[in-house]
Amino acid sequence: MAVVSSPQKTFFIETFGCQMNFHDSEKVVGTLISQGYRQVQTVDEADLIFYNTCSIRDKAEQKVFHRLADFKRLQQQGKQFAVIGCVAQQEGEKIFERAPHVSLVAGSASYRNLPQMLIQIGQGQRATGLDDRQTDETFETEFTARTNPHRGYITIIEGCDKFCAYCVVPYTRGKERSRTSESVLAEARRMADAGYTDIQLLGQNVNSYSDPLRKASFAELLTSVGEVPGIRRVRFTTSHPRHFSRDIVDAIDSVPTLCDHVHLPVQSGSSRVLSAMYREYTRELYLERISWMKAARNKTFSITTDVIVGFPGETEAEFEDTLTLLDEVGYDGVFSFKYSPRPNTPALEYADAISDEEKTRRLAVLNEKQREIQRARYAKHLGDIMEVMVEGYNRPRGQVIGRTSQNKTLNFTVPPGHAEPAIGAYVNARVTVTFPNSLAGEMVV
Ligand code: SAH
Ligand code: SF4
Ligand code: F3S
Repeated sequence: MAVVSSPQKTFFIETFGCQMNFHDSEKVVGTLISQGYRQVQTVDEADLIFYNTCSIRDKAEQKVFHRLADFKRLQQQGKQFAVIGCVAQQEGEKIFERAPHVSLVAGSASYRNLPQMLIQIGQGQRATGLDDRQTDETFETEFTARTNPHRGYITIIEGCDKFCAYCVVPYTRGKERSRTSESVLAEARRMADAGYTDIQLLGQNVNSYSDPLRKASFAELLTSVGEVPGIRRVRFTTSHPRHFSRDIVDAIDSVPTLCDHVHLPVQSGSSRVLSAMYREYTRELYLERISWMKAARNKTFSITTDVIVGFPGETEAEFEDTLTLLDEVGYDGVFSFKYSPRPNTPALEYADAISDEEKTRRLAVLNEKQREIQRARYAKHLGDIMEVMVEGYNRPRGQVIGRTSQNKTLNFTVPPGHAEPAIGAYVNARVTVTFPNSLAGEMVV
């Protein structure tokens, strides 16, 4: 009897937003492949087009709707569209009104139901996954399609219960729920067996990690992942200053594989603004955390942060408090954003909005200041020999692209007569030139 096989369905996925979204896409891709779909690299080749969306700021959200408008004509060719992620959860069924050619709308708390949703849209029905924000379940799948064979993400906690006054995440990703430490460690071991050496633990607020089986605190989990044979580097993001406890600093200081880099978003240097943001810490409490890191005995911590300028009511003096904080801490990197009013959030109702012009000015002042701080901080690496993991090659410049354990880019040349190290290899390089955002040097042979 002849077997009639239908041609394999193809999909294209584009991802916006943070590392959590990027990693969710790796799991969504794995799930689609396990359901018989094949991934393609262009919209034109795809039967099903996925957008994994972000709504953290207004610009991010607008991008998604522009994309959908661009591709409207493709529906006539029989293509289907799926909108997932934070804009999907935030806008829900309104997306069908705004973009009638969409067949699937789902937030991240519903991804474990994707196989059923795929069946529904395969039958020509619309599918939604929007009602799972109160779930205790996490999206665990054996089908993660990681894009990099050396460094990979592991989600340890999903959602967020902090409800900072400006932020959509608690509404888009639902309530906080942690995976068991056993499951996280099993995934880390599988990754090590598959050749991964660099692991990044993910969550919107990793310090609130709470093992449902009560077997490990966050610091203990971090240590255990760092002790998995074959793992050479472990990072984690994002930390919340309120729950960033001393045992985390101690773990990093004593376990060699835990990277000497901490991203600790401060948002503002003014305790008054922090309170209006519902951040649950003061400038002083934040600086105490910083002092723990600076007092570490074995490692020199590299610290990076996020800052919001122009939060409603932020005075010039309060903005200057943020500038002095930059000096006091000495960050190796700052992600700075203009406050963007977001749907559902309390800050939307706050009085004394700052004009866009003024926000732009504050952002420029802050970035200029930080550039000088970084120029001086990076310059201190001159002459250092640092271990880097090879990430790629810059052929026009004849350089190998490396990343240090502090998460800095160190581009280096290989002395004549020596083999170029492979991607994923660890080598030592000596810093000969420094810039505000990267280092350059030569491989030590
Ligand atoms: N969970 C992390 C960060 C999540 S979002 C934390 O608590 O720090 C990443 C960054 O985006 C935030 O740190 C903040 O600086 C910025 N951000 C979030 N909402 C914003 C908004 N409405 N306007 C401008 N920046 C925002
Ligand atoms: Fe947003 Fe605050 Fe949660 Fe971070 S901790 S995701 S800023 S609500
Ligand atoms: Fe954006 Fe959602 Fe991440 S809003 S930053 S994709 S959690």
